[in-house]
Amino acid sequence: MGRKLNVAIVGATGVVGTIMRRLIAAERGNWGEVRLVASARSAGKQLEVGDEVLTVRALDADVFEGIDIAHFDLPDEVSAEWVPVAAAKGVVVIDKSGHFRMDPDVPLVCREANPEAARVRPKGIIANANCTTLALIPTLAALNEHFGLVSMSVASYQAASGSGKEGLEALYAQLAKVAGVEGLGTAGSDLRMVLGEEFDAPFGAPLALNIVPKVGGWKEDGWTSEELKVRNESRKILGLPDLKVASTCVRVPVAVGHSQVVHATFDREVTVADAHRVLAAAEGVDLVDDPANGVFPMPADSVGKSGTQVGRIRQSIDFPNSLEFFVVADNLMKGAALNSIETADLVRRELEAA
Ligand SMILES: NC(=O)c1ccc[n+]([C@@H]2O[C@H](COP(=O)([O-])OP(=O)(O)OC[C@H]3O[C@@H](n4cnc5c(N)ncnc54)[C@H](OP(=O)(O)O)[C@@H]3O)[C@@H](O)[C@H]2O)c1
Repeated sequence: MGRKLNVAIVGATGVVGTIMRRLIAAERGNWGEVRLVASARSAGKQLEVGDEVLTVRALDADVFEGIDIAHFDLPDEVSAEWVPVAAAKGVVVIDKSGHFRMDPDVPLVCREANPEAARVRPKGIIANANCTTLALIPTLAALNEHFGLVSMSVASYQAASGSGKEGLEALYAQLAKVAGVEGLGTAGSDLRMVLGEEFDAPFGAPLALNIVPKVGGWKEDGWTSEELKVRNESRKILGLPDLKVASTCVRVPVAVGHSQVVHATFDREVTVADAHRVLAAAEGVDLVDDPANGVFPMPADSVGKSGTQVGRIRQSIDFPNSLEFFVVADNLMKGAALNSIETADLVRRELEAA
């Protein structure tokens, strides 16, 4: 191609956009222009990308002129409207919203499982899976390759920042309100009395000193959108359309880092030693599994890490060919920005070689 590609971060002011700016800064030499875009509310704001200070532009059709690859970090409905606008201008869009993920003409890419899918993008759009699914994929892809994944049951413990800026700010506001109230949470309804209804947004209930077994919107038969995403997006990325999945997603009062308890069943026999050998060599996985010495994955230790952390690996006692394990990933890194950066790297190399 003979020139450096130009890249846009659309949604540069959000929690994911903030990590995107940091990651692009770290590979600044790979890119020509870096353009920052957000809503009209943020137009004119000055934001840093490494040593550079860039001015945020308001989202409109003109912001895509001259851009080769655009990372979209916008709410679903805004992506639904603007991704096709950018793609129609020849921009390769990597979209993190839920809107395009299950479109059969939009690849859902995770480098550790299906990097080749990034080359086939009939609509010029590549989707990034949701943060809960992406936290699982590097581990599942490696185990699937060696032992043949048949089914999994997942329970998540998801951080407030999975709900964006609003979620993170809500958690901190609630924690400030409950801090120092001795005995709070020990008498019926006292937490709701202290926090009041205005603190129900955006989780639907208080999150400080509590957990909320609802992530996303309600769907048919009592499932939530997040639970269905874990099932559908895992199947699509892993290329296992018949994978059996049961999932329950829960919000917990953690700032960053989604954790998941996984019960996985395989075609073939698998021991803990087998799993350790495979996962120690797997791309995108950090094996953190030395329980005798108190070493296991936790969200507080996952923040800012590139790898997904996996530990507490045990052979199931009552289920053949099955493992129990605990996976944690920074939802803003592998769960969002880092995966998008890795996909863009595949596309950049392809376009540069063309
Ligand atoms: N948070 C996570 O863990 C995570 C993980 C995976 C995927 N995702 C997905 O990534 C996307 C971004 O999430 P986030 O958590 O970063 O959300 P966020 O913190 O709420 O940020 C939203 C971004 O979208 C911009 N925006 C909102 N409405 C807009 C409009 N009408 N026109 C132009 N820009 C607009 C905001 O700009 P202003 O600041 O100007 O309002 C901000 O930059 C979402 O699709 C989300 O589902 C998030």
